[in-house]
Amino acid sequence: EQIMKGNYDHFMQKEIHEQPESLTTTMRGRLISGDSSKAKGVLLGGLKDHLKTIRRSRRIVFIGCGTSYNAALAARPFMEELSGVPVTMEIASDLLDREGPIYREDTVVFVSQSGETADTLQALKYAKKNGALCVGITNTVGSAIARETDCGVHINAGCEIGVASTKAYTSQIVVMTMVALALGDDTISSQARREATLDGLLDLPNKVREVLKLNDELKSLAKLLMCEQSLLVFGRGCNYATALEGALKVKEVALMHSEGILAGEMKHGPLALVDETLPIIVIATHDACFRKQQSVIQQLHARKGRLIVICSKGDTSLVCTGGSCRVIEVPQVVDCLQPVINIVPLQLLAYHLTVLRGFNVDQPRNLAKSVTTQ
Ligand code: G6P
Repeated sequence: EQIMKGNYDHFMQKEIHEQPESLTTTMRGRLISGDSSKAKGVLLGGLKDHLKTIRRSRRIVFIGCGTSYNAALAARPFMEELSGVPVTMEIASDLLDREGPIYREDTVVFVSQSGETADTLQALKYAKKNGALCVGITNTVGSAIARETDCGVHINAGCEIGVASTKAYTSQIVVMTMVALALGDDTISSQARREATLDGLLDLPNKVREVLKLNDELKSLAKLLMCEQSLLVFGRGCNYATALEGALKVKEVALMHSEGILAGEMKHGPLALVDETLPIIVIATHDACFRKQQSVIQQLHARKGRLIVICSKGDTSLVCTGGSCRVIEVPQVVDCLQPVINIVPLQLLAYHLTVLRGFNVDQPRNLAKSVTTQ
């Protein structure tokens, strides 16, 4: 086992740190080079014969559980923007509980690291029965979900052993970003956006390498927070998913109560929790929601909230510098890929909190890597 962990103490730690390589593998052979060294498009072999049908569908439905659901949520805005098809989200168990509507004209995308999660597989059987086109996005070749879907894309992140998913999450976002690019048309109006995203994909492993250098900073933050009872994470837009996923990491491995909150809902309840003691992480990197997040920070600051802000490198516009506020600066990338960067400090925080609190990092109590019973 130690040989497999290499120079790392835990699989989760190894898997967090190998993300530059796993992302490179996910993209390998799928970005088509143009004239210069720049990529010009994407090629997804497992989807190419179905792109027309997907473009014509009435809606795209993303289905998953846990981290895989969060990855789909992160990719949703860009998928809607480029495909022009409405994208709805379903937690697999909830769709089954409701026997929610799935139609023949729907494309249903099943996202699963293991490809074996019982609820997701059951939802797949349900969608098939209703005649929808079923697409699989999994990390496991030959898995039940990979086998039973009509078409799909493997994320090729490599074997993930830590129960808490890390590298599969970032690779899932990258795959769904590539699917959105494949679905999008070549209109002049979307060309700049497509090129910026393709450039962003090519440079993403370097940017992840950069953000991993924050390891010691996150370790010192973990020391500060290790005795806390609770932690909130605020995000919105593409980074609503980051808030949910960051909170999930802290909850599942560090066994600390943690909640991801949609910042737009702050006034409808969460604000009542704000005081000088409860740590609140706010994700406020530059994107279309940035001004709104600035205002959230101002309001939390005015109520003496104990803030930890994840912001774009060099951002001097935030009100909360100094005092008890801590700032974590991350590299800025194109908005749809920013969730890949922003989750890394939260993965590192969850990891260090777990080690400091003395819990089992790779096999948290009561949890399983693959939940094959309903
Ligand atoms: C379990 C794992 C999670 C994972 C979820 C969905 O709860 O502990 O890490 O996100 O299942 O698994 P899947 O293999 O379908 O992505």
